[in-house]
Amino acid sequence: MASNYDKIAKIYDLLSRLVFGKYIVKSQVCLLKYVPPGSTILIVGGGTGWILEELSKQYNTGLIIDYVESSAQMVALSKKRWYGDNAVHFINLPIESFTAGHSYDIIITPFVFDNFNPDKAGQVFKNLHRELKTKGIWLYADFVYNENEGRLWQKLLLKTMYLFFSLTSNIETSELENMERCFDNRYQKIFESWFYARFIRSQAYQKL
Ligand SMILES: C[S@@+](CC[C@H](N)C(=O)[O-])C[C@H]1O[C@@H](n2cnc3c(N)ncnc32)[C@H](O)[C@@H]1O
Repeated sequence: MASNYDKIAKIYDLLSRLVFGKYIVKSQVCLLKYVPPGSTILIVGGGTGWILEELSKQYNTGLIIDYVESSAQMVALSKKRWYGDNAVHFINLPIESFTAGHSYDIIITPFVFDNFNPDKAGQVFKNLHRELKTKGIWLYADFVYNENEGRLWQKLLLKTMYLFFSLTSNIETSELENMERCFDNRYQKIFESWFYARFIRSQAYQKL
């Protein structure tokens, strides 16, 4: 069963900024330069929708965006955002139940794979891979923790976050998946940046 962020939707951005300051936003905004004008975009798990405003500051028209978000409350908040004259289709479904019927120039997955158990993460990756055009760009931002190199405070913070989201949002996993291995020789990494003492990583991949 998909997680449900309805209960915390209204306080989500405040909580995220209290813990991570501006870095959740920065880690996504730094990727948006890879979005060409006129792109057809899939955003998965966009939360309260602030990313729509950031995209629309860059291009206030010409974008076609499918905004797939499993929380009805998050979708309701996102619909109130400013998105200029861009065409935004709000789709209140878990991504695993969504079929696009066409392919995208850009796929954005910001802090959403950390919600999935390994099986679902693999399946969702496979489906999204199919829906991205050749030469299309996948913008990926998420937490990173690795037992060998990670710091104790990162491990504790991650555990606290998973406990919090299991209590409030019914999140189905308690471990971070390493999705980097999925972007194998079918992709070329064209950008990478780190934030918050290397606990947050942003990456842009081009599909070959
Ligand atoms: C950790 S929040 C990140 C929100 C936003 N991307 C941000 O960075 O502020 C994860 C978001 O993904 C959504 N989500 C979780 N599982 C999902 C799924 N299976 N399909 C679509 N959205 C999902 C949640 O409702 C939530 O809004």
